[in-house]
Amino acid sequence: STTPRTLIAGNWKMNGLSAALEEARAVAAALDSQPVAARVAIFPPATLLHRLADAVEGSSVLVGGQDCHANANGAHTGDIAAEMIADAGGTLVICGHSERRTDHGETSEQVARKAQAAIAAGLEPIICVGESLSQRQAGEAVAFVLGQVRESLPAGLKGQAFNVAYEPLWAIGTGHVASVEDIIEMHGAIRAELVALFGEQGGATPILYGGSVKPDNAGEILAAPEVGGALVGGASLKAKDFLAIVAAA
Ligand code: G3P
Repeated sequence: STTPRTLIAGNWKMNGLSAALEEARAVAAALDSQPVAARVAIFPPATLLHRLADAVEGSSVLVGGQDCHANANGAHTGDIAAEMIADAGGTLVICGHSERRTDHGETSEQVARKAQAAIAAGLEPIICVGESLSQRQAGEAVAFVLGQVRESLPAGLKGQAFNVAYEPLWAIGTGHVASVEDIIEMHGAIRAELVALFGEQGGATPILYGGSVKPDNAGEILAAPEVGGALVGGASLKAKDFLAIVAAA
């Protein structure tokens, strides 16, 4: 089996107006002049998806959506189908980010249907899992996250390219990055679950870490066993910071 390339994914969340396209252009230009080993992807708000895809066209920067609906089309005001993301130039999509689970009550069962819709549209999903602070303090973090993995990953992922992202809720946007020991423990547990679910493929599925990844901690995190990349929020908004994380991969 081959080791997949590290994926550095920048999730802009609900940040970024037209001017932010300049940051994406700067990332694309930097990677063009100095190619890197990692795969690099940007997930802008839906309003910028098409323009950002155009802005980085011809570069190595990949583009993705932050969410997709589980259905292919229909009467779902405000939602976006996976095929629309592909049509706008996206090749990846984040499914089940904790902010979707919290803000919109997304269940793991719904997340699994979204991941299935992503695959049907030819997109590569990044399926997010992660425990709350109270769950960690109660010693339930690993059991909870493995339950999310089992429930959020549809059987249709078999044989398809996909990623899992571990984002402990207490580390998102807080500056409190998980310790490398906690990351190693959780990624190891997720790896074992992926192997149990998907066999050899599960042994090679990238497991990204997310939660306060910054230029100064990215190197240590990305070097940890079973860390196949990073899902970066705040530090992905500025090309300079994001490129520093990419360089650490
Ligand atoms: O999806 C990435 C994310 O939730 C982490 O956000 O701002 O802590 O890097 P941040």
